[in-house]
Amino acid sequence: MDCAEGLPVLDWIRSQPHLPGTKEGCREGDCGACTVVVGRPGAHGVEYSAVCSCLLPMGEINGCHLVTIEGLTTGDELTPFQQSFYSEGASQCGFCTPGMIMSLTGNLLGTERPSSSTAMESLDGNICRCTGYVAVKRAVDNVMNRFSLKSGQRIESLIEDGHIPPYFSTVEERLKQLPSVTTPNTDSIAVAGGTDIYVRSSEKLSGKNPEFLTRRDDLKFIRKSNGTVEIGAAVTLKQLRESQMLAEILPGLKDFLLKVSSTQIRSRATVGGNIVNASPIADMAVILLALDAAVAVSERSIPLHRFYLGYKKLDMSSGEILTAVSFPVPDSGSVLSSLKVSKREFLDIASVNSSMLFTVEKGVLGSVRLSAGGVAPVPLLLEKTGAFLSGKTISEETINTACAIAVDEIAPISDIRGSSEYKTQLLKAQIRAHITRGPNR
Ligand SMILES: Cc1cc2nc3c(=O)[nH]c(=O)nc-3n(C[C@H](O)[C@H](O)[C@H](O)COP(=O)(O)OP(=O)(O)OC[C@H]3O[C@@H](n4cnc5c(N)ncnc54)[C@H](O)[C@@H]3O)c2cc1C
Ligand code: FES
Ligand code: FES
Repeated sequence: MDCAEGLPVLDWIRSQPHLPGTKEGCREGDCGACTVVVGRPGAHGVEYSAVCSCLLPMGEINGCHLVTIEGLTTGDELTPFQQSFYSEGASQCGFCTPGMIMSLTGNLLGTERPSSSTAMESLDGNICRCTGYVAVKRAVDNVMNRFSLKSGQRIESLIEDGHIPPYFSTVEERLKQLPSVTTPNTDSIAVAGGTDIYVRSSEKLSGKNPEFLTRRDDLKFIRKSNGTVEIGAAVTLKQLRESQMLAEILPGLKDFLLKVSSTQIRSRATVGGNIVNASPIADMAVILLALDAAVAVSERSIPLHRFYLGYKKLDMSSGEILTAVSFPVPDSGSVLSSLKVSKREFLDIASVNSSMLFTVEKGVLGSVRLSAGGVAPVPLLLEKTGAFLSGKTISEETINTACAIAVDEIAPISDIRGSSEYKTQLLKAQIRAHITRGPNR
């Protein structure tokens, strides 16, 4: 295809007269109307996931299988999900429906054990403005209650059940035969998952050939050695959720990440992008601050709490790349408690989020690290509050004093996510909840 690598895939699809099914809604990753499925050659064959095509650059589908709603059927046959949506009245204007079908199919193609619950989870990035979700849930349950995968033969099994057409069985071979095309990145703009930069600068990037960090294998690893966990900057939030090693070290992380963006966004959003984007409520940054993380930039290792210099100001020069983030494996018995309050439970950024890493024995706190977002121009380590809490007996007085110290450490502003007073109260409530209720909600 003759276009700049930075062109959003959605714009290319919408310019093709024979591909009218993928819809353009918000262009910000929020509605899911533009959802497509991308199959990428991986270690275990073609690995599929649902993504928002409005935030996906064309350069990122080089050598991949791009599936739009038109690619799910041959002839006039409906897939089981399409048929079920039709039978259950789960589609009225139909604008959201192709995106929902793509998310559901992405779940069948890319989730280890697809079930009714993972199917509904896969719709966390799809918004319907007219039907409502009860009929959608009924339509999904109808299919998933009868669904089973024949083990080891996912593609064949899905073809047999009519979820995907027969050509899918030839895709792996066909991708291998594609000529490799490399376009030099002529523009010095780094794009990782694109889920932040494309919301801000989609038009500007459309004609550019940026540097795609997700192409760099040296930025894609999760490893543990000598008591330290190290995560490459281009690791996606989806990969964090899937990491068995992280699940053992941070048991609540997998569930907490369900509250970060949506399935489509997590498939693309990277850890490095979350840190560098420097949003004051960046969920990963807040968690990593509590974990005492350090970032690797060029040859330097910088404690994460020193990396943020001011609103969107970083200890990093333009053109530098953050390559990895690392943190000490928490002592056994440590608890990482993470909380997030937002206007919607899913697919929303926080009004206030916070994380606390601590131990507690017989009602006495060990060492405490507390971080919070939405209460300052940067994701903040509350050093004084953490220092105060360390070694204290849990009591009403301890909690009240900790809250008073925290109030002195923060400077929340009133904005669309709540007044400064509301955010202050949220943080106090979260500190209390971390201490009294334990981990990960
Ligand atoms: C619908 C939606 C919901 C969202 N919900 C949440 C949420 O709940 N919580 C949350 O925290 N965030 C949320 N986000 C924000 C965003 O998805 C995350 O911050 C994400 O982790 C950004 O990563 P990325 O790889 O997509 O960054 P990109 O968009 O690729 O990059 C962001 C910026 O960082 C730079 N950059 C990226 N990686 C590096 C690197 N390694 N070195 C140097 N520079 C780099 C880029 O040049 C760019 O300026 C949401 C976004 C959307 C669209
Ligand atoms: S157009 Fe709304 S998520 Fe892409
Ligand atoms: S059916 Fe109209 S937006 Fe969902």
